[in-house]
Amino acid sequence: MIQVAGREVTTIEGLQGDPLYLALEQALSEAGSVQCGFCTPGIVVSSWAWLRAGGSSETEAIKQALAGNLCRCTGYQKIIDGVQQAVRIMAERTVSGEQL
Ligand code: FES
Repeated sequence: MIQVAGREVTTIEGLQGDPLYLALEQALSEAGSVQCGFCTPGIVVSSWAWLRAGGSSETEAIKQALAGNLCRCTGYQKIIDGVQQAVRIMAERTVSGEQL
């Protein structure tokens, strides 16, 4: 708690309806990135914050962005695939004129 004192905290519930959240939701689902779901809120919020800050689809950068999120199910590759898919979805939506 001391690490977040005086800071704004956003949980996964706070992202509902956000266009970037919806892209991540679609991408992680399509990539099979969710198994038991225990780690998913942390993965989604970390990915959202990183992509919102201009994150790329480069594998090592995604690993750094998600460091600290532990997943006992997926072996991480499907999570990385999902985040990379979210970047593609965002690019497609940007080209088609959708607001992100
Ligand atoms: S999906 Fe089960 S811990 Fe990540």
